[in-house]
Parts: sequence; C-alpha cells; structure tokens
Amino acid sequence: MSLLSIRDLVTEFESPSGTARAVDGVSFDVAPGEIFGIVGESGCGKSATCRSILRLFGGAPARIAGGRILLDGAGDLAAMRERELAQVRGRDVAFIFQDPLTALNPTMRIGRQIGEVIRRHRDVTRAEARDAALQLLRDVHVTSPERRLDAYPHELSGGLRQRVVIAMALALRPRLIIADEPTTALDVTVQDQILRLLKERCDSLGTSIILITHDLGVVSQICDRMAVMYAGRVVETGAVREVLDAPSHPYTRALLAALPGQVGRDSELVPIGGAPPSLIDPPPGCRFAPRCVFAQPQCRIGAPPALRARAGAGEGHLDACILNEVCHAAA
Ligand SMILES: Nc1ncnc2c1ncn2[C@@H]1O[C@H](COP(=O)(O)OP(=O)(O)OP(=O)(O)O)[C@@H](O)[C@H]1O
Ligand SMILES: [Mg+2]
Repeated sequence: MSLLSIRDLVTEFESPSGTARAVDGVSFDVAPGEIFGIVGESGCGKSATCRSILRLFGGAPARIAGGRILLDGAGDLAAMRERELAQVRGRDVAFIFQDPLTALNPTMRIGRQIGEVIRRHRDVTRAEARDAALQLLRDVHVTSPERRLDAYPHELSGGLRQRVVIAMALALRPRLIIADEPTTALDVTVQDQILRLLKERCDSLGTSIILITHDLGVVSQICDRMAVMYAGRVVETGAVREVLDAPSHPYTRALLAALPGQVGRDSELVPIGGAPPSLIDPPPGCRFAPRCVFAQPQCRIGAPPALRARAGAGEGHLDACILNEVCHAAA
C-alpha cells in the first residue's frame, strides 16, 4: 500500500522564452514510513516535482498541467481546490525548505510560531499551544528549550533554526514530510546531525520522508528507495541498494562516477560531459542520449523511453534506457 502515488505528473513554468516542462511524466510511490530520495543534476525538476505535491511554487509562474498526486485517504491533491489543499498542508504533508530562514517569520518568537502552526489546524488555547511547542523543541533536542521559546529566529544558529523548522513540520504529526535539500545551507558538521534527527523523529512517528539531496552518501545512509531524475523525467528508480550498487541507466552510472559519495569515493571522479537539454524544447527520444557514451541512433527518435524492469533486476528496480541490456553488457 502506498501513502503517496504520483502518476504521470506534468508541471510547467512560463518564462519569456517559452513554457518549460520542468516535470514531464513523473511517477513514483512512497510507502508509509519510507524515506524516498530524489537525486539528479541541478535543474532536472526535483524541486518542481516536490513543490507540485503541495502546490508551493513560491509565486513562480508554475502550474500542474497533468497527472495525479494521490495521497492515501485524501484523494488527488492535483485536482484539489486551493482551500482543501490548504488543509492538507502541514496537517498531512509538511514541507522543509533548504533555507530555514525562508520558513520562519523573522518578527515572531519561536514558541509563538510553532504554536500558530498548531492553532491553525487544532482548537487549542495559546497556553496549550505553547506547551506543545515546548515539547516539540525538546523532541528535536534543542538545548534550553524554555528560553528558546521566546527567541527570535535571528538569535539562533543555522542548525538550531533548522531544528525549529523540523519541530514545526512535525507539529501536527503529518504522514509525509518533503525535505528539499534541508541541510545544504548548514555547516557540514551540523548537516549530519540534522539529517539523523529528521530520520529519528520520523521513524518514531511513522512519518514518510521525500528527501531531495545532491549527496549520494546521504541517500545511501538514510533512504530506503530512490529516484534518479534527468531533464524532467525519472530515469531510474528502485531500492537504494539496488540503484547504487547495480545502477542500470547510463545516466545513473555517470552520476555515480561524477559525484563524491559512497560509489567512486576511492576512484577518480569523472564529470559528465555536456549539459542537460532545454526543458522548453527538449530533443526527441532519450534526453540523455546527447551525452551518453552508449547512445545509438534509435535512442534519438520518438517519445522518451518509459521506465521498465530489466531482466534480472530486483523488484521495483526500473530504468528508462531502451538499450539497457546491451549497454549493461558492454560496460
Ligand atoms: N521560478 C522559475 N521560473 C521559471 N522556470 C523555473 C523556475 N523554477 C524552475 N524552473 C524551471 O524548472 C526546471 C526545474 O527546476 P527545479 O527547481 O525543479 O530543479 P532542481 O532539480 O530542484 O534543481 P536544483 O538541484 O538546482 O535545486 C528548471 O530547469 C527551470 O527550467
Ligand atoms: Mg531544487
């Protein structure tokens, strides 16, 4: 059973030079309690995919142009009216942004901010909300939580602020947390603590996480399953151990060779030559073909290939390469 099923999602951004299909037919499932990682180069549509779930486009000229976002028990979020979706935000699904300052109101004390999240959805008094906020700060291991309740965001370090953001995300015990590079803005030493904390809290509450990250080491350590995106599409998905240990799409393999992470740590990093295609007018066929060392003429025609299981692949391990058997043999 899935908590979230995204099916054929299409999300477009309007720009002066045309309509960019930032998300072009993305499908994946997240199970209850699961941590699902999304990786891929900058601009491939990771944030656009996740922002589509709660329609949090931050004022950008974006719209969902197709597909379904099925949340167990709530229906299709893509088809919901804004008012209904506002109820889902925070209560069922919470979002953690990269920069904690964007999530916090600079003019409101921490305790009040956490309390307001609770009061927006629950009928509790200010004092009850404050007590709940205090407990949430303890849960995320904020030191001197009583004192922090009365602090303003700028009085806290980046790591503490992100703990507060996590406390706010957990305030209503959502079933899903979407974390878009939640630690990129933090010191390296703090990043690991924050991710561990997020995982620990979600494990204990049974909350699922969609985690967007550039760090394959992080995916390897904390995610259960993952998707690799390229130019608006998922090119490979499966259990983390399958995808990282036996990557089958040439893009995944190139990514593993190019990024510092568990794979390739001891070997020389090989950057991927070339650049991703435009999402306004992408080339036909496989979008990675222009950069792929295995590409054949048939890779550059028709619709982009769909995800499918390769012979011998583990359950749920899919990739979108029409040559997958051939190029695998050649590698
Ligand atoms: N505010 C915007 N206005 C216009 N187009 C946008 C906007 N934000 C994103 N896009 C388009 O959507 C594409 C995907 O962007 P998205 O932010 O989802 O990438 P990403 O994978 O999250 O990248 P990063 O790793 O840099 O965060 C971009 O390549 C761009 O074409
Ligand atoms: Mg992003």
